[in-house]
Amino acid sequence: MNNKSCALAFALLPVLLGGSPASRAALDNRLALTPPMGWNSWNHFACNVSDSLIRQTADSMVASGMRDAGYRYVVIDDCWQVSRDAKGTIVADSVRFPHGIKALADYVHGRGLKFGIYTDAGTKTCQGRPGSYGYEEQDARTYAAWGVDYVKEDWCNASGLDPRKQYVKFRDALAQSGRPIVFSICEWGSNQPWEWAPAVGNLWRTTDDIEDKWASMLANLDQSGQQSTAAKPGAWNDPDMLEIGNGGMTDDEYRAHMSLWAIMAAPLIAGNDVRTMSPATKAILLNPEVIAVDQDSLGKQGILVWEPVPELQVWAKPLRDGSRAVALLNRSSKPDTITAYFSRAGIHTDSARVRDLWSHSEVGRFKGKYSTVVGPHAAVLVRLTPIR
Ligand code: GLA
Repeated sequence: MNNKSCALAFALLPVLLGGSPASRAALDNRLALTPPMGWNSWNHFACNVSDSLIRQTADSMVASGMRDAGYRYVVIDDCWQVSRDAKGTIVADSVRFPHGIKALADYVHGRGLKFGIYTDAGTKTCQGRPGSYGYEEQDARTYAAWGVDYVKEDWCNASGLDPRKQYVKFRDALAQSGRPIVFSICEWGSNQPWEWAPAVGNLWRTTDDIEDKWASMLANLDQSGQQSTAAKPGAWNDPDMLEIGNGGMTDDEYRAHMSLWAIMAAPLIAGNDVRTMSPATKAILLNPEVIAVDQDSLGKQGILVWEPVPELQVWAKPLRDGSRAVALLNRSSKPDTITAYFSRAGIHTDSARVRDLWSHSEVGRFKGKYSTVVGPHAAVLVRLTPIR
């Protein structure tokens, strides 16, 4: 092959591989090298968003230690926008956001936090507000000018559109805006995003909306848990935002929710009212040892490694230092003993040290396996460090 035909073959390679050059170009915004952490208004407040809520939330994230634990992005979800002006610029609700979005972003930045916003790839958002369809570049420019650091783009009112094209359009618009902006794809896993989204967004929803219920949390675990090979630094499966502290599950169930999201290297986007959270909720969301599992720089999503009987599961995630985070999950409604065999969890030494990441204590040295009783609807999360 001469130089010319060689260059042509390279240019055609993405097409030969089945995608347009644009859809195959890797997302290279150098953001979200570990799963994004923050807070989003939707799970607790739905459309009841306002300037004062966001300011108070930012203040509480600082005062409670959430910011310093890693929760950085403060994201307003749907319902902040009402219309477009004569030039097509998106307009915020002036009653709920009387100072405008830029002033709010400045406030959030002043608290050492980052600011995120929501839009939709279709003509209207899920709540009927103006979507970005046909305004992608203009909206990306507006958001960049406001100081937006994170955009979540939903998929309502987009029938007939191709998500691969629409999300690429917004990715490119964000890139051209000149501001580093994390891009969160939200098409609910309906078009196999794990196959194409790693080149398009920093995170992509893999599931329907989470509900504040044990069964919903597990359904999202099961669905997102199957896509582990797609996750890597800068590109994460998103089983949806956390429900911890919203009241629909027990604290044991919320500890399991947090443990499993950490095992899955899922984005940790709190969805509660952080202004009034209980000490138990705070202890779950801020557990530094669990956050460290989620944020481990190796960037591998953990997987289900063992299910001796239905409802008793062992999930394992490899960590940068050669240890493994292991969740022993009891999905049933009675206590039971669960055994983590080291070899199944990827530990190939005879013995390992076991540390319990919820009690913050060394459990001891174990040979070949670790067994413990796990309560109903609960998980034990340990770190196994091989002893060589
Ligand atoms: C969809 C998304 C949710 C939320 C709502 C807002 O359902 O999946 O996360 O953004 O829209 O309307």
